[in-house]
Amino acid sequence: MNFQPLLHLRRHATTLKLKPVHTLRTLVRSVASKPQLTQITDNVQRGNYSTLNEKDVAYFEQLLGKSQVLTDDLEGYNTCFLKRIYGNSKLVLKPGSTAEVSAILRHCNERKLAVCPQGGNTGLVGGSVPICDEIVLSMQRLNKVISVDEVTGIAVVEAGCILENFDQRAREVGLTVPIDLGAKASCHIGGNVSTNAGGVRVVRYGNLHGSVLGVEAVLANGQVLDLMSDFKKDNTGYHMKHLFIGSEGTLGVVTKLAMLCPHTSKAVNVAFLGLNSFEDVLKTFVSAKRNLGEILSSCELIDERALNTALDQFKFLNSPISGYPFYMLIETLGSNSMHDEEKMNEFIQEGMSKGEIQDGTITAEPGKVQELWKIREMVPLGLIEKSFCFKYDISLPLRDFYNIVNVMRERCGPLATVVCGYGHLGDSNLHLNISCEKFNDKIYKCVEPFVYEYTAKLKGSISAEHGIGFLKKDYLKYSKNAVAISWMRDMKNMFDPNGILNPYKMLN
Ligand code: FAD
Ligand code: MLT
Ligand code: ZN
Repeated sequence: MNFQPLLHLRRHATTLKLKPVHTLRTLVRSVASKPQLTQITDNVQRGNYSTLNEKDVAYFEQLLGKSQVLTDDLEGYNTCFLKRIYGNSKLVLKPGSTAEVSAILRHCNERKLAVCPQGGNTGLVGGSVPICDEIVLSMQRLNKVISVDEVTGIAVVEAGCILENFDQRAREVGLTVPIDLGAKASCHIGGNVSTNAGGVRVVRYGNLHGSVLGVEAVLANGQVLDLMSDFKKDNTGYHMKHLFIGSEGTLGVVTKLAMLCPHTSKAVNVAFLGLNSFEDVLKTFVSAKRNLGEILSSCELIDERALNTALDQFKFLNSPISGYPFYMLIETLGSNSMHDEEKMNEFIQEGMSKGEIQDGTITAEPGKVQELWKIREMVPLGLIEKSFCFKYDISLPLRDFYNIVNVMRERCGPLATVVCGYGHLGDSNLHLNISCEKFNDKIYKCVEPFVYEYTAKLKGSISAEHGIGFLKKDYLKYSKNAVAISWMRDMKNMFDPNGILNPYKMLN
């Protein structure tokens, strides 16, 4: 594609040598010393559950076959992505069918054995690892794409399918999965649904409550709840599927789902822009909505410190521009490249002539588009590569969106090595990150609960897209009132009276 640079906008010419995303885990998991168990560091009182015995293990071995029942080398299953939570599970089960999930849960419920459902273990709130000795129910083997219908756009997929693999299958028939995030090479679609993950294209496709047409879930007592549907419209009673979207494995185990997949777009344009102030960022966002309208598909923000940390850590990244306090990645997806490029040009010309956009690069070449996205995707990994990072994923009103980063920078002072903000500006979702050499109580107390109180005062959400898990359960009250929490508890008790599903998570 012959794409002309605009005005004095620099062209992004460097070819980046990118490490494949599947090295993502190894990039992050590089610390060696044996950590302390979270049950001890966080003083967690073990629930009144039974303890696993030999008969249980024999039952599972008979059910699944010995190779799918793991009792050794469980460190990876017991450690969360951020290396913040360390569980002490002695058993990992890998069912290969809904019937096997059902039999496992029936047995666990009868025996009162606690279970932690685990997808790709990329969650950022400590929801996917055991806190005490819960059995890990790994969804890895339930990984088939069952069908993709190019006429209806509906795909049916097992929960343990890796997001990137699912998307590749959809693309074979000209469709795409309407969710995309930096962990796509490791996370499961079932994990995405269970966390109601957002990602970088919510601006275009909305969240999973809209795209997921149906789910199959196994309840704590082993009952299989078939809520699968091939239709967008189905007003037959309560929309129970929504209970499993975002309930983080506390109400049931999602085994299968139906997803409405849009057609892939013929024209993809990405702009990576440098801006001088947050005020200019907001003006550029408004202009993007006005000028790009129906083709706008993503609007991401990265501040200077977030970008520089990623560039320092990963030398294979190469930012096309530097020296600005703010960067925006704006993407359009459309069906007519001429039309889309013209719109993108107008948008950028207008921004530059008003002095709101300072510099940048735009591209429609697939390789370069990927390189620009890679910069954005590596930002979270840069922050945890060599440091401990307190991560906050908050919804805030746009006018107040970035203030908290400055407030926290001042508040933390030299206790923090990096205080930065990036995230999904288009969805009012800020990722506030505070790095320090290693976890310490002084900075922890300086940051929490302050960030949550601040967020609550602005009527924001203390978890925009990552969920509550273990790390945020004490702060749920900042976003849900007592009546709502009490109803959540009642629902949990109704679905899982013995409390075996993902205990110590979401609700205290
Ligand atoms: P896990 O981490 O294994 O589990 C997450 C939760 O879901 C746990 O509570 C677990 O018990 C439960 N669970 C998993 N599978 C099932 C199932 N089949 N049935 C019932 N419960 C289940 N998140 C976003 O929202 N947006 C982003 O842009 C984003 N970007 C990320 C980028 C990086 C680099 C990383 C490391 C993470 C990112 N995340 C993001 C967080 C994370 O990837 C998502 O939350 C993802 O949806 C988790 O999927 P998973 O398969 O890894 O689930
Ligand atoms: C992202 O948008 O990059 C993710 O949600 C991960 C993070 O918050 O760091
Ligand atoms: Zn995010």
